[in-house]
Amino acid sequence: MKPKIAILCSGGDVSGMNPALKRFVEYAYAKGMEPYFIHRGFEGLIDNKIIPASYTDVAGIITRGGTKIGSARSIRFKDPAYRTIAANNLKRLRITMLIVLGGDGSFRGMERFYAEHGISFCGIPSTIDNDINGTDYCLGVDTALNVIKNSIDDIRDTASSFRRAFIIETMGRNCGYLALVSAITSGAELCLIPEVPVNIDDYKGCFQSQIAKGRDYFITIVSEALQNSEEIAQWFEKELGFESRVNVLGHTQRGGNPSVYDRLMAYKFVTYAIDALLAGKTHSVICYNKSHFNFKTIDEVALHPYHLDEELLILGREQFLPSHCQM
Ligand code: F6P
Repeated sequence: MKPKIAILCSGGDVSGMNPALKRFVEYAYAKGMEPYFIHRGFEGLIDNKIIPASYTDVAGIITRGGTKIGSARSIRFKDPAYRTIAANNLKRLRITMLIVLGGDGSFRGMERFYAEHGISFCGIPSTIDNDINGTDYCLGVDTALNVIKNSIDDIRDTASSFRRAFIIETMGRNCGYLALVSAITSGAELCLIPEVPVNIDDYKGCFQSQIAKGRDYFITIVSEALQNSEEIAQWFEKELGFESRVNVLGHTQRGGNPSVYDRLMAYKFVTYAIDALLAGKTHSVICYNKSHFNFKTIDEVALHPYHLDEELLILGREQFLPSHCQM
């Protein structure tokens, strides 16, 4: 009998999941396996939404953001009774291996599932927040950064035409990665993230001097974690006399045509994951560090919080701390 393998997406969807699904089907068949899709994440696993996957299911999806098989955040999967139902659904179909595209919470759930029911799995870090400990890169972050870059570039056109301060809020949950990389690569004047606390008043003198020399617009990138975009806009109005607008980029950041990099990484991640499961790896996460793939345990990934890369933080501090503001 052919080995059977399934894939599911868990948590916030990312652009790159569909390319991963395409590679999953194609590579599973190439390896003599029977591939299955689990619809709507762990919710679908519990509700037995486990469907055989074919080439036609993945035809034409490489260009599409989101995930064709849906994703979900499952509360029920935290309950051992529902995990038993989920395991029985897989066992009935004789599926012994699972690939999970998701975050550290999903991997932690899978670890328990493996310990209780012996279903092997490999996790592929997937979140636009890029906030999973143990990997430099999570699937989907590149497309999200490109979506943000396009929005900021577009906003700069109007900002520069209208003498305004624009406050642009990025996603990222508690992590400033999206905001910091976007601020550096779009030439923003100011970047506010939780990892680099600053006092906004410390910029006043420098910004006033820039205005006196002819600056007539400001772009500020704020991480959603700080929840202070409106406050910052009011500061520009009150302290610098600049009409201000807040743009919350919101869920546009999760959509869009997957970038070349995310497509390629989706292919590589899935290839490594299937090879690892076939080679007998039972419960690991495939990570990407310093241009190399490596397998980590769930503890290495989920026990510690993610810290922003120090090199990136140094760049950010040099660019955005009030002490480095160019008068
Ligand atoms: O984790 C991905 C993410 O998009 C975060 O950046 C954001 O805080 C959150 O999910 C939004 O969640 P929801 O789509 O449930 O509103």
